[in-house]
Amino acid sequence: MRLLLLIALLSASALDFSSCSGAPDLTTMFTETLAETHALHANLNNRAKRNIHSYNENDSKYNYHSANPHSLSPFSYEDTVRIDEYATTGLKVAAKLLSSKFNGYNIRSLQAKQDPREALKTLQAPEKFCPFKKPVTCQIEFPYRSFDGSCNNLNNTWWGKAGTPFKRWLPADYSDQFKLNEPRAASDGSELPNPRELVCALMPDRHEIESSVTHMFMQWGQLVNHDITSLSITREDDPDQSICKTCTRTHKCLPMMITSNTTCNCAKTMKHDCIEFTRSSASFGDVACTLGPREQVNMQTAFLDGSHVYGVSVEENTKLRQGSGGLLRVQSRNTGDLLPASKQERPSDCLDFRPETKCFVAGDDRINQNPALMSMQTLMVREHNRVARELARRNPTWLDEVLFQEARRVVIAQIQHITYNEYLPVLLGAETMKLFSLSPAEGSKKLHLYDPTFDPRVTNEYAASAGRFGHSMVRTDYSRLDSNYESSAKSFMLRNSYFRANDLYNSVEGGLESILRGLLVDPLMAVDRWFSTELTQHLFETKNRLKQPFHFDLAAININRGRDHGISGYTVFREFCELEPVKTWEDMAKFIDPETVNVYRSFYGAPQDLDLFVGAVSEKKAEGRLVGPTLSCLLGLQFQGLKFGDRFWYETDEGPADFTFGQLAEIRKSSLAKLLCRNMVDTPKVQPMAFISSKSNGNSLVDCSTLPDIDWGFWTV
Ligand code: HEM
Repeated sequence: MRLLLLIALLSASALDFSSCSGAPDLTTMFTETLAETHALHANLNNRAKRNIHSYNENDSKYNYHSANPHSLSPFSYEDTVRIDEYATTGLKVAAKLLSSKFNGYNIRSLQAKQDPREALKTLQAPEKFCPFKKPVTCQIEFPYRSFDGSCNNLNNTWWGKAGTPFKRWLPADYSDQFKLNEPRAASDGSELPNPRELVCALMPDRHEIESSVTHMFMQWGQLVNHDITSLSITREDDPDQSICKTCTRTHKCLPMMITSNTTCNCAKTMKHDCIEFTRSSASFGDVACTLGPREQVNMQTAFLDGSHVYGVSVEENTKLRQGSGGLLRVQSRNTGDLLPASKQERPSDCLDFRPETKCFVAGDDRINQNPALMSMQTLMVREHNRVARELARRNPTWLDEVLFQEARRVVIAQIQHITYNEYLPVLLGAETMKLFSLSPAEGSKKLHLYDPTFDPRVTNEYAASAGRFGHSMVRTDYSRLDSNYESSAKSFMLRNSYFRANDLYNSVEGGLESILRGLLVDPLMAVDRWFSTELTQHLFETKNRLKQPFHFDLAAININRGRDHGISGYTVFREFCELEPVKTWEDMAKFIDPETVNVYRSFYGAPQDLDLFVGAVSEKKAEGRLVGPTLSCLLGLQFQGLKFGDRFWYETDEGPADFTFGQLAEIRKSSLAKLLCRNMVDTPKVQPMAFISSKSNGNSLVDCSTLPDIDWGFWTV
């Protein structure tokens, strides 16, 4: 009876604030709430400083978030802090409003009928508390993409723009009363299992390989992800202060404690007693700053537009360019050009400070994370410069800007073509490619596929959980091979190579070519619940002052990140994908092997609690694809949005961004194999399908000269 009354009341008030006793005075609420936060912070900072002081003994560990200061990024430190601060204030204001509106109601029964957060939809933060820059005026006839992704969609000019909020497939599942902010909890309200213990029990290193797929597949996957997504991590007001070092659970920190659980053999392999974890910074859900649950910011453009090569702003791009001939800056060497070296004496994202092996700068600040990533990023810059020179030779009157933009357009088209023609079919299989219309067309056919109602933004679920499936494909050892594909130097392990560029400078041991050839030969690790210990035991390993190793665990971070972002559990996404629902552990055992389900059962209170990342990587796979059905669906959807929502998609028939018919037919000849051939020194042979083993039928090594190449005649004006 009471519930019926409540529902009647709710529909009468149309679940918004306008029908209450007057609209709330948001300016006053924001001003007061911000002042309260500042006062609280002053207190907390003092406490934290005291704690950090007493913690100093173990202080020399490497903090990968603070070592990632977006040094070239267009987002100033102040910008990211401001978005976080205003959005956090918005969350507090939202909680106060909802508490006063629904005071006395049983929130659980209310939530079962209607989402109380709907009431916030008509409320926006006052302008001075809305940190996003106002929409820009777009030049409709401008034929090139903007660097920051704005003006791709002319109706929603910020869709896909760097520095704006992710979108979501499903409402956020936070654990506080109104599901606004606190990390996801179990369905009965208790804490979810400790991520590090889960990793120890579920994800130890087991060498299951995909024998017909090469490790190059993993590397392209990481490159694609660095093109479309980058999280912004909460920072403290004081940039020098690493806020989560003390491993205390606060509103910004979600530490993962390392317990002495005896069933967990690997838990104690870490000499420290917690893995620090900083929450991603908070954001409003849109650029109008509508009040609602905590959202997060994508610092990258959503589009597959080479933003990891070119940067995401004019300023950033200018720093990367030579300023003549349409070229990007490089360190010229007779053993092949390298990316420019950082100008800083001790770059913060580098662990080898020797002047002769300085870490690099590129369009994405994660460039120095590992040598294989650096090698592929270098390859893309070499390709850009090669294309710019080809264009300049044929069009001597073109100035730097036209040469640069045209070369950029060709490189982006190649990235899109290789991803949709070679990468996604291996990942998703023919059926999913067809279901989401992902395959490129053939010949010179242009496509009328751009749909401005398609929202191209990357989803939060993809960035925080689903897109991370690739971590399971990473190998423990990376071969280095000579031009005959024989061992040229000792293979390397990631633990010794994170944030160190020396292998690329070392031409005696084969430089970046030897690493790329290794990627073309080493088999890929299968997408499953097994992860290399290079990621779970030795991620970003350093030694503290007591010479004890300190390191992170990427699989545990992924689980925690999903919770931090309020990503719903695995079973919810099965239903979202219209797959057979999972209500019980027995149901689950139909799609994930029963032995694994039993381990889940011993950790999670209910099947509904299983984290999306954990469930998604362990699903059984159908023949001909690398991932299970839930990942196929989520990845298919994400890549569909990136294609149909991109006004500058390389196959488009829409002017002014379209290629000529002749140019498009040439672009469609592109392959990763030829890209590698053209830009790797001393590599006369490559297999035609670079993601497939050269031992597979019909894919033996061939002379580079036999692979189809682009005819630049179509670019002569
Ligand atoms: C050696 C290889 C790799 C390393 C060391 C690595 C490391 C990392 C790290 C440290 C993060 C940030 C985690 C966090 O704080 O939440 C991350 C995020 C991510 N990784 Fe990887 N990764 C690798 C390869 C890959 C691959 C192959 C893929 C996919 C095919 C991938 C997809 C992602 C995605 C989607 C994110 C979220 C990105 C964001 O929005 O910031 N990674 N990775």
